[in-house]
Amino acid sequence: MARRTLIAGNWKMNGLIADGIALARDVAAGAAAAGKAELLLCPPVTLVSSVAAALKGSGVAVGGQDCHAKANGAHTGDISAEMLADAGAQYVIVGHSERRTDHGETDGVVRAKTEAAWRAGLSAIVCIGETLAQREAGRTLPLLEAQLRGSIPAGATATKLVVAYEPVWAIGTGKTPTVAEVADAHRHIRAVLGGLTTGADAVRLLYGGSMKPANAPELLAIADVDGGLIGGASLKAGDFLAIAAASTTN
Ligand code: PGA
Repeated sequence: MARRTLIAGNWKMNGLIADGIALARDVAAGAAAAGKAELLLCPPVTLVSSVAAALKGSGVAVGGQDCHAKANGAHTGDISAEMLADAGAQYVIVGHSERRTDHGETDGVVRAKTEAAWRAGLSAIVCIGETLAQREAGRTLPLLEAQLRGSIPAGATATKLVVAYEPVWAIGTGKTPTVAEVADAHRHIRAVLGGLTTGADAVRLLYGGSMKPANAPELLAIADVDGGLIGGASLKAGDFLAIAAASTTN
């Protein structure tokens, strides 16, 4: 099953308007030379529409970092999936571990947000991953399975769903799991997805957590790794494009 590599930048809470537009322009300018991977930038919500404008015609997609489950209403400070789509987004990240930790998001909440993304016509990038304590207790694979079962609604397809495996202890720490550990996790995620949707073979599975130009080639070469969700390294166009160029398979 051919799955087009997806290299997604998660800018997190970084970027004022001028810097964000400059970064998006630099990514757009280098996208064609960076290979065949699909590129996606997920800026803070204040920048979604201006980044979308800066990327117009480049083939680089735009996404949000979170959405509310409802389409509108009395939810001060929240943003709906429909609003993201209206601002030019095609994707939205849901259930990032920083949201799960900072905002107490449960699998049930993540599932409702995934449904909201689909309702608005967005692809949802659903994040899962274990803490260091869970890994050391040997609970990684069952935990990933429980998160998938709890977070993915029925009816997932490869156009509507991307899954990002992000070990919490690898995010922003410079530490990464071994190639064998990532391969095990992704094989397991693919198998669990097989029980949840008929199209599991086509769903893209991203690895995230301290991915950089130096480690991208070995991580992206793993059979069930179909791309990356990049935090820190996505804030430098050169690093982000170098990661994209490291995906040689498709
Ligand atoms: P990092 O973040 O690349 O800075 O580790 C990845 C993420 O949180 O998506």
